[in-house]
Amino acid sequence: MLFVWDKSLEIGNDKIDSQHKEIFKRVNKLLSAMADGSGKDTIGKLIEFLTEYVVSHFDAEESLMRKHHYNEYQLHKMQHKLLTTDVLRIKQEFEGQGASSDLVIQIQKKVCNWLKSHISTEDKKFVLTTKNTEHL
Ligand SMILES: [Fe+2]
Repeated sequence: MLFVWDKSLEIGNDKIDSQHKEIFKRVNKLLSAMADGSGKDTIGKLIEFLTEYVVSHFDAEESLMRKHHYNEYQLHKMQHKLLTTDVLRIKQEFEGQGASSDLVIQIQKKVCNWLKSHISTEDKKFVLTTKNTEHL
């Protein structure tokens, strides 16, 4: 049930790759705490810890995209916004109903699956496009 990082998720930009790995770590911490039946306080803090990191990571990625005048910037930013909204919804649901098994499923579907597909397609596309056009 843990969220496993593998080499296929590497996009070739050290800074972004290490931030992605950190997100995986934080998601795993959260999923483990939920599986262990940790208290509301602990889980609440881990959700907060993950949310903050995701938001700052997206900011970092978007500023890199602006710097390189990435032509799919708006679309990419919109995708980030969708995940941020889902994470905030998960946070609200947790605050209302606690750590339900439905919430674990939502994290796996909306956060884990989303991230894997976003990183391996969209983030990779950005690095490749930038490398091709700017010879970085
Ligand atoms: Fe991204």
